[in-house]
Amino acid sequence: MSKELLLIWLISSFHLISLSTSSNDTSFVFNGFGQANLSLDGSATLLPNGLLQLAKDLQHQMGHVFIKNPIVFSSSKPLSFSTHFVCALVPKPGFESGHGITFVISPSVDFTRAQPTRYLGIFNASTDGSSSSHLFAVELDTVENPDFRETNNNHVGIDVNNPISVASAPASYFSKTEQKNVSINLSSGNPIQVWVDYQGTVLNVSVAPLEADKPSLPLLSRLINLSEIFQTRRLFVGFSAATGTSISFHYLLGWTFSTSRESLQLLDISKLPRVPRPRAEHKKPPSALIIAPSVTFAIIVMAVLAGVYYHRKKKYAEVSEPWEKKFGTHRFSYKSLYIATKGFHKDQFLGRGGFGEVYRGDLPLSKAVAVKRVSHDGEQGMKQFVAEVVSMKSLKHRNLVPLLGYCRRKGELLLVSEYMPNGSLDQHLFDDQSPVLSWSQRLVILKGIASALFYLHTEAEQVVVHRDIKASNVMLDAELNGRLGDFGMARFHNHGGNAATTAAVGTIGYMAPELITMGASTITDVYAFGVFMLEVTCGRKPIEPKMEVEKRYLIKWVCECWKKDSLLDAKDPRLGEEIEIEIELVMKLGLLCTNIVPESRPKMGQVILYLNGNLPLPDFSPYTLGIGSFTPVVVDAALLTVSCNSRNRSAPLVSSSSTIGISNNSLNVVVESQDIGSPSFINFDK
Ligand SMILES: *[C@@H]1O[C@H](CO)[C@@H](O)[C@H](O)[C@H]1NC(C)=O
Ligand SMILES: *[C@@H]1O[C@H](CO)[C@@H](O)[C@H](O)[C@H]1NC(C)=O
Ligand SMILES: *[C@@H]1O[C@H](CO)[C@@H](O)[C@H](O)[C@H]1NC(C)=O
Ligand SMILES: *[C@@H]1O[C@H](CO)[C@@H](O)[C@H](O)[C@H]1NC(C)=O
Ligand SMILES: *[C@@H]1O[C@H](CO)[C@@H](O)[C@H](O)[C@H]1NC(C)=O
Ligand SMILES: *[C@@H]1O[C@H](CO)[C@@H](O)[C@H](O)[C@H]1NC(C)=O
Ligand SMILES: *[C@@H]1O[C@H](CO)[C@@H](O)[C@H](O)[C@H]1NC(C)=O
Repeated sequence: MSKELLLIWLISSFHLISLSTSSNDTSFVFNGFGQANLSLDGSATLLPNGLLQLAKDLQHQMGHVFIKNPIVFSSSKPLSFSTHFVCALVPKPGFESGHGITFVISPSVDFTRAQPTRYLGIFNASTDGSSSSHLFAVELDTVENPDFRETNNNHVGIDVNNPISVASAPASYFSKTEQKNVSINLSSGNPIQVWVDYQGTVLNVSVAPLEADKPSLPLLSRLINLSEIFQTRRLFVGFSAATGTSISFHYLLGWTFSTSRESLQLLDISKLPRVPRPRAEHKKPPSALIIAPSVTFAIIVMAVLAGVYYHRKKKYAEVSEPWEKKFGTHRFSYKSLYIATKGFHKDQFLGRGGFGEVYRGDLPLSKAVAVKRVSHDGEQGMKQFVAEVVSMKSLKHRNLVPLLGYCRRKGELLLVSEYMPNGSLDQHLFDDQSPVLSWSQRLVILKGIASALFYLHTEAEQVVVHRDIKASNVMLDAELNGRLGDFGMARFHNHGGNAATTAAVGTIGYMAPELITMGASTITDVYAFGVFMLEVTCGRKPIEPKMEVEKRYLIKWVCECWKKDSLLDAKDPRLGEEIEIEIELVMKLGLLCTNIVPESRPKMGQVILYLNGNLPLPDFSPYTLGIGSFTPVVVDAALLTVSCNSRNRSAPLVSSSSTIGISNNSLNVVVESQDIGSPSFINFDK
C-alpha cells in the first residue's frame, strides 16, 4: 500500500473507532482495528486494512490480542459485561482446519506458558481446572479433541480455568427466516458474529452468520459466578488463537465491548474490513506472446537455459505432494544436501544406523549436520511419517539430537539432524580403539537419556514412545553428553490417549516380552532403558551368542552374579576402581526396569529419582518374581509372524528366511501382519 493510500485510509478509518467512558461503564467499539489501543503477541499481526490476523497458515502458532489497559470493573456492583465480535477462520485449500479462536478474560496477559494446538494458546497440558488458573474463555473450536470430551469439530464452548468446557454445543443459530435451527460451519472462512453476555451470574453465548441478527435465544446459557473465578476486578479482555498440525488463518474483523449491556455500542458491519481468501493454487495462464524478431532471440536463449535447468532439475529431483505443502518450512532442498555432503561422498560417510546411511553435511551459514538416507518402497505410511518427523522438530530437550528437517525423493527420505561430533555411544563402548569412558561419564550419559525419556513420556506436548532405545541410538555431543536420536520408529500420542501402538517394533534384546501382545508403550521404553543401563555398565550387548552359555544373555547373567553376591563381576572389566555402590545401584535398577511383569517396572520419573539417589530402590532381590528372566521375542520369519516364546528361555531362536535383508551390521526384518496396516520393523544388531 502506498503512503498516500495509507494516509487516506487512516483518516477515513479514524471515525470508526470510539471509546466511551462517559457513565461509569467502560465501553469501546472497533470497526476494524486500525486505531485500536491493543497489545499483540505471538503470531498476531495487524494487517494494513485494519484486519487483525491472530494466526496464519503455519503450524503450532499462537497469537493473542488484548486491550492494552485492564478494564476496571466496579466493585460496588456485580460484575457484568456484554460483547459482540466478528471473526473468521479461513481454511487453506486441501488442509484440515484448526484449531480455533477464543474470547478471553484474564487478570494477566502473560501467556508465555500456554501452548498452541488444542490448548488454544491460553491453557497448557498441566491446566486442570484448579481455581488458581483464573481464566475465562469462550471458544470457537474446529478440532475434535476426545480427551477434552469433545464430540464435534465445529463447536462453541465455555471454558472456566480448563480446556474441558463447562458447556458446549455444535455451532448453530435459530434462523428467523427459516424458523428453524441452522448449523454454522465455523471453518467455512465466512465471517461469524459472536455475542457473549453476562449479567447476574447468567452467561449467554450466541453465534450467527454475518447477515443474520442476534438470535433471540442464545446457543449456550449457563450459570457462572465470574466473581468466584477472578480475585481482582482489574481484568484484561481479548482474544487468542492457535494452530497445530491443523491450520487456518484466524481473523478478527470487529469488536465491541461494554461493562453493561445498555451501553454496548453497535458494530457497523458495513465498515468491517474484508477477509482475504488464500490464493488459488494454480496460476493464471500467461497472456498471449507478442512475437517480434528480438523476442525470438530471447526465446532461443531461454530454451537453452531451460535445457540446462531441466538437466540439473533431474539430478536434484525431489518428490513433493500436495499434502506436504504444510510441512514446507521443514523441507531441505535435495540440492543443498547434495552439495553439503559433497554428493554423498564416502569421505563424508559417518556410519550406518537402523534403516540408512548417515553422512556429514556442511551447510553454508549453519552448523554441521548429519544427513541420513532412508530408502522406502511404498508411499504407505509416508504421510504420517513425515508429519511425525515434523512434530519431532517441536521436541526440545538438551538430551535429544535436534532434528532439523527432511527432504524426500523418489524411494528415498533424507532426515537432517544436528551433527554430533563424538559419534554414537556404542562406538565408545565396544570399539577397542576408542578411549574407555569412565564411570562418571557413563553415569552422566545414563542420567541424560533418562531425563530425555521422561520428557518424551510426560513433558512433551504429545506422548512420544521412542521404541528403539539402545547404545547405538545414543549420540554423544562435544561435551560427551548423551543425546537420544534416531526417532525413525518413534510414535506420537496425545496425553491421556492410548499410548500403546499395534506394531511390534524394536531391536532384539531390548524388546519387552509384552511388546508382541500389547504393543509398544512408555513401559516398553522403560524395559529397553533397563537393558541399556546394563549395556552401559557392563560394556557389552544384551545378547552375545559367542559367549559361554551362562553369560550369553546379559539380564540373566547380571542376575546370576547378584545371586552369587558378586554383582560387580558383571561390570565392564575396563572400568577401574570406581564407586561400586553406584555401579551396583545402576545394575539393580536395570534389573528392576527389565522385570518381565510390566506393572512392576518403575516409571521414568521414578527411575530418575533412583538414579540420582533421591529415592532408595524398592525392596527386591534376584529371586523376586519377574527379575532377571530373559524372555526372548522370537521372529518366525517363515510365517512372517512375530511371537513370544517364553518356554525356550535359554535359547532364543531367530529363524530367518529369504525375506530378511542383511545390511552391514544389522539385520532388519519387515513383518507384515493382518492387523497391522503398515509394515513394522525389527532390528537385529550383530
Ligand atoms: C459512578 O460512580 C460513582 C462513584 O464511583 C457513583 O457515585 C455514581 O453514582 C456512579 N454513576 C453511575 C451512573 O453509576
Ligand atoms: C493507549 O494506551 C496508552 C497507555 O498504554 C495511553 O497513554 C493512551 O492514551 C491510549 N490511547 C488511546 C487512544 O486510548
Ligand atoms: C501452565 O500454565 C500455568 C498458568 O499459566 C503455569 O503456572 C504453569 O507453569 C504452566 N505449566 C507448564 C508446564 O508450562
Ligand atoms: C434450537 O436449538 C436450541 C438450542 O440448542 C434448542 O433449545 C431448541 O429447541 C432448538 N429448536 C429447534 C426448533 O430445533
Ligand atoms: C466447512 O467449510 C469448509 C470450507 O469451505 C469445508 O471444507 C468443510 O467441508 C465444511 N464443513 C462442513 C461440515 O460442511
Ligand atoms: C440469557 O438468555 C436468556 C434467555 O435464554 C435471557 O432471559 C437472559 O436475559 C439472557 N441473559 C443475558 C445476560 O443476556
Ligand atoms: C459469587 O461469588 C462471590 C465471591 O465468591 C460471592 O460473594 C457472591 O455472593 C456470589 N454470587 C452469587 C449470586 O452466588
